[in-house]
Amino acid sequence: MRTAFSVSKSVPAKVAAIVIPVAASGPIPSGVGLNRAQLAALGFEGKTSQTHTLTPATGKTAVRVLVGIGDVRDLNTSVLRNVAASAARASSRYESIATTLPGVIRGSAKTSTQAVVEGIALALHRWVALKNDKSGLVKLTSVTLVSAEKTADVQAGMLMGIATSTAVCTARDFANTPPSHLTASQFADHAVAIAKASGLEATVYNRDQLIAMGCGGLVGVNAGSTEPPRMVKLVYTPTSAKGKVVLVGKGVMYDSGGISLKPTNESHAAMKMDMSGAAAVLSTMGALRAMKVKTQVTAYLMCTDNMPSGSALKLGDVLTMRNGKTVEIHNTDAEGRLILADGLSLGAESKPDAMIDIATLTGACLAALGKRMAGVLGNNAGVIDQLKASSTRTDELLWELPLFTDYRRMLDSNVADMRNIGGPLAGATTAALFLSEFVGSTPWAHLDIAGPMDADSDSGWLNRGATAYGTRLLIDFCANFTKPAKKK
Ligand code: BES
Ligand code: MN
Ligand code: ZN
Repeated sequence: MRTAFSVSKSVPAKVAAIVIPVAASGPIPSGVGLNRAQLAALGFEGKTSQTHTLTPATGKTAVRVLVGIGDVRDLNTSVLRNVAASAARASSRYESIATTLPGVIRGSAKTSTQAVVEGIALALHRWVALKNDKSGLVKLTSVTLVSAEKTADVQAGMLMGIATSTAVCTARDFANTPPSHLTASQFADHAVAIAKASGLEATVYNRDQLIAMGCGGLVGVNAGSTEPPRMVKLVYTPTSAKGKVVLVGKGVMYDSGGISLKPTNESHAAMKMDMSGAAAVLSTMGALRAMKVKTQVTAYLMCTDNMPSGSALKLGDVLTMRNGKTVEIHNTDAEGRLILADGLSLGAESKPDAMIDIATLTGACLAALGKRMAGVLGNNAGVIDQLKASSTRTDELLWELPLFTDYRRMLDSNVADMRNIGGPLAGATTAALFLSEFVGSTPWAHLDIAGPMDADSDSGWLNRGATAYGTRLLIDFCANFTKPAKKK
């Protein structure tokens, strides 16, 4: 059940709980009914994201959930998003709430409201499709955003927040779904349905078509599987487009490692989420019309699982990719780059202004940056700068790693144009150097989301399980895109 949001100039009469923001200093809002000393005695100081519930004695008036907003000078939309998430968790057992949170940052009603809606919707999201006991679902389904002024901006921000958070929840649902419940062909069917609902052109390519197109990477990775591969091309064309972007998503529905079988049960268990990049791209595409994006965006979802079997890709095999380059396989677990290569080649053929790929690509990136940051590498500073700006706005953190071309020699092969793995060092960089072989001169950046694809616990806008990392980042990037300068 997704949360319903609405805007009102005043607190509705029948609401179960009122969420009241309280700063760490300065006056206490009148609705609280207690002074600062009394609140302090209850252990509530208004620290950022701290919450305290005041239950009325009579039962006739609404519960008041106080949420700390800390020092108002430190507030920004990223802090506000997490404050809203904490408030939502603290009030999740009430059916309806009203809150003045959108108004706590002066002069940014639209972006503040979007952040508040995102924080609430993302904190309340649960994936219970396969549970018979649905009691894990939160009760809170109705949120009224109270604002006496700028209601048009609040309304607009609310619609944006609904679009972005719906996209994130959809991507999380896909990534949380077990591999046998979401095969490449089923995922492609979902993509077609989303395209239909959101004004996108969709084309699905099957194995025979992929062979005819020369997509040796995607077909090669699929060789061991009983499930056929799918590539989905989605196109969003706004009226009077400002620029042209291509997105490519890694859609490995399950990554067993193939013949280079993954060594532990834990590493296997996480690999139903190896399609998180494709899920983020699909959800992004689904949100573009609602977000009134003025950039033309084409997406390639590269979907297959990676399985060992008698027909699987072998070590020493050589694949010929869509752009004609040959790749010697030295580890079948380095499969993501093989399927992305074909998507990037196809994307580059259309000469876009920028191309972004997003992938759960390397354990090395996870080791380097941990679970809260994605790595970004690319051949164009303008594209990377725009991604970094989106990262700041969305709180989907990025850290740039070097596309250090000296390391290209680690990919040298005796028999083909390159090998599919480098050495034991700089794994995120060698993976990106591999991808760079397929982008030609297109301004390009690669997002390695192996770290933040899932979260261990609920915290701020993140919930345990799949995070759909990159979804809001890519939506923001497409929405604010301007053509980068040609050279780095
Ligand atoms: N899907 C994995 C990367 C991954 C690891 C994602 C952990 C999320 C969490 C990828 O296909 C993979 O297996 N990469 C290998 C590459 C290596 C063989 C060069 C890796 O990182 O170990
Ligand atoms: Mn792998
Ligand atoms: Zn993988």
